[in-house]
Amino acid sequence: MGIPDEDIAKVREATDISALISQYTSLKRSGNRFVGLCPFHAEKSPSFSVNAAEGLYYCFGCQASGDAISFVRAIEHCDFVDAVERLAGRAGITIRNDADGANDATRGRRQALYAALENAAEFYHRYLLERPEAGGARRYLRSRGYDGEVVRQFKLGFAPTGYDALVRALNVPGEVLKEAGLAYENTRGKMQDVMRERIIFPIFDPMGKTIALGGRIMPEELRTNNQNPGPKYRNSPESPIYSKSSTLYGLNWSKSEVAKSHEVIVCEGYTDVIGFFTADLPRAVATCGTSLTENHFRLLSRFAKRVVLCFDQDNAGQNAAARLYEFERRHEVELCVALLPPGADPGDLSRTDPEALRSAIASSRPFLGFRVDRALAQFDLTTPEGRTRAAEAAIGAIAEHPSDLMRDQYIIDVADRTHHDPAKLRAALEAERIAALNRPEPSVTRSSSESQTGNRVIPNEPDGYEAESVYRSRSTNALTESRSGRDGLMLAIHRPAEVSEWIDEVLFQDPIQRRAFLALCGADELITAIDHADPDASDLLRRLAVSDGAEEIDVTGTLIELVRTAATRELYSLEVDARLGADDEDALGQASIKTGWLKSELEQLRDPAESSLLASRAHDSALRILDWLRAAHPSQSPTSIEEAVDR
Ligand code: UTP
Ligand code: MN
Repeated sequence: MGIPDEDIAKVREATDISALISQYTSLKRSGNRFVGLCPFHAEKSPSFSVNAAEGLYYCFGCQASGDAISFVRAIEHCDFVDAVERLAGRAGITIRNDADGANDATRGRRQALYAALENAAEFYHRYLLERPEAGGARRYLRSRGYDGEVVRQFKLGFAPTGYDALVRALNVPGEVLKEAGLAYENTRGKMQDVMRERIIFPIFDPMGKTIALGGRIMPEELRTNNQNPGPKYRNSPESPIYSKSSTLYGLNWSKSEVAKSHEVIVCEGYTDVIGFFTADLPRAVATCGTSLTENHFRLLSRFAKRVVLCFDQDNAGQNAAARLYEFERRHEVELCVALLPPGADPGDLSRTDPEALRSAIASSRPFLGFRVDRALAQFDLTTPEGRTRAAEAAIGAIAEHPSDLMRDQYIIDVADRTHHDPAKLRAALEAERIAALNRPEPSVTRSSSESQTGNRVIPNEPDGYEAESVYRSRSTNALTESRSGRDGLMLAIHRPAEVSEWIDEVLFQDPIQRRAFLALCGADELITAIDHADPDASDLLRRLAVSDGAEEIDVTGTLIELVRTAATRELYSLEVDARLGADDEDALGQASIKTGWLKSELEQLRDPAESSLLASRAHDSALRILDWLRAAHPSQSPTSIEEAVDR
């Protein structure tokens, strides 16, 4: 069934696995292998290795392994046939496929979307380059400093004024156009273009496939239709091939430079990304109408060590700080802020003063340092009153940072600059951290940045818990809840710094505990998590927040217990899978390698209390298993569920 073996072999042969994997993580040659940071788990030092001659990869950290096909499957979350087809497409090979069925239907649907978007981008691009009707658009782009080279590099386009130019040009079923966000059914039942009289910015995935479009309105003096021009930017909706929370505009062009320089600049939109490129900083990306999510960080951390935020001055400090710190730590990147002159955006600055843009990036500073400076700058440091209020404001910012070492460094710095005794500031810091727990409103102001752009709302939507309501009966019954899960949550609430290195959603089996944990991760403060969690998870958080006994919990013991429970469950499901797929030799082999490894690691978790040697072995094993579990279950629900509405 499916694709004939010889076609699969052909695809394997034609694929340069190191080139393929380089699109996801940067690889360095080492002897006859390539090594790099594993794209499947977060790590600091490279344990991922590619043998190009054999066409295989292996990670010493998380044991991910396989060939080009399994790589694409794992990283793109697609099935075997889809992976082979993608690789075939990449290599320019045509393959036969005589399978049909449900998977095929989804695959067919995705492919139809890819094709529609690619053809639409091409149509708009050609229109801009060739048609007399696009003269105004070309003039406008030139006035912004976009020459032919820029237009071609970013594949900019122009959507004409008529109501169905694209619909007619593409000749694609209405359903596909709708799902792709290219057209809609108007009141007369006709398909009508979504983009009309707009400059088109196509959005690509890291491999360079078109997945969405952004459309900017023409400036007023060049508009033919001023009746109802719509919003300044109109962007594609989410679709099976486009998820905003994991897309970064520009990464397809910037990734090699990002990997080389270990630095990525995150800015606010298409024109800013293009500005950075034209100012000779070709390592910029932009989010597409959302705030930065965990998925974005996961993606970026594979390429870059430093993430430089370059936002509008007024937005820079308000980007839910605590959440960003969390990402920073979890993904082991250094988060910095670049400050532009007030009122300037990178797009404009790249034209008026590219040197200023470059120097802003060169002098970017760590995020917390930036916030502390900003707090201090509001006050007159020459008076005792001013210095005291400045110290208080700075402490407010410092209190949100999850690392106590980092907090202390800044306390010392602030003490020095405001002429206070560090011990006094430390006490004030602790008081602030306790007060923050009881504060009803998050200290991060969201409203001001929203009102500024008028449309950047950041709702926090806990989702996916209706389906689990069968577990409701267990809800907040303290007697039946998982003990290790409870301890894990207690630690996450009361002693977060001690568990932040490892605590992870894969460790929570009980759905309520898991949701409570996710709410905790997605929130700046406990109180916000309680507000945003569903009723059961919220109850649980409330209960644990006021429970005593966190001090008595054994951190390592809890880690080991949580891992043991999660891994045992995983082992069970691997064995079930193996039995179900008993006639697929390949899968069976894979599964038995996995279960073998897991069993031997689980063995190490036995009797950690017996001796310190056993304890440290158990601890190491637990961390290895955890890495493995994380890789096997990449976060389903991004811990940041924040999504801004379409800008
Ligand atoms: P700008 O408002 O500066 O857009 O937003 P612009 O096209 O450069 O407009 P002018 O000419 O300066 O007035 C910068 C980026 O922010 C995103 C876009 O990606 C844009 O490139 N943006 C802005 C939106 O997505 N939606 C909006 O409503 C505004
Ligand atoms: Mn602009």
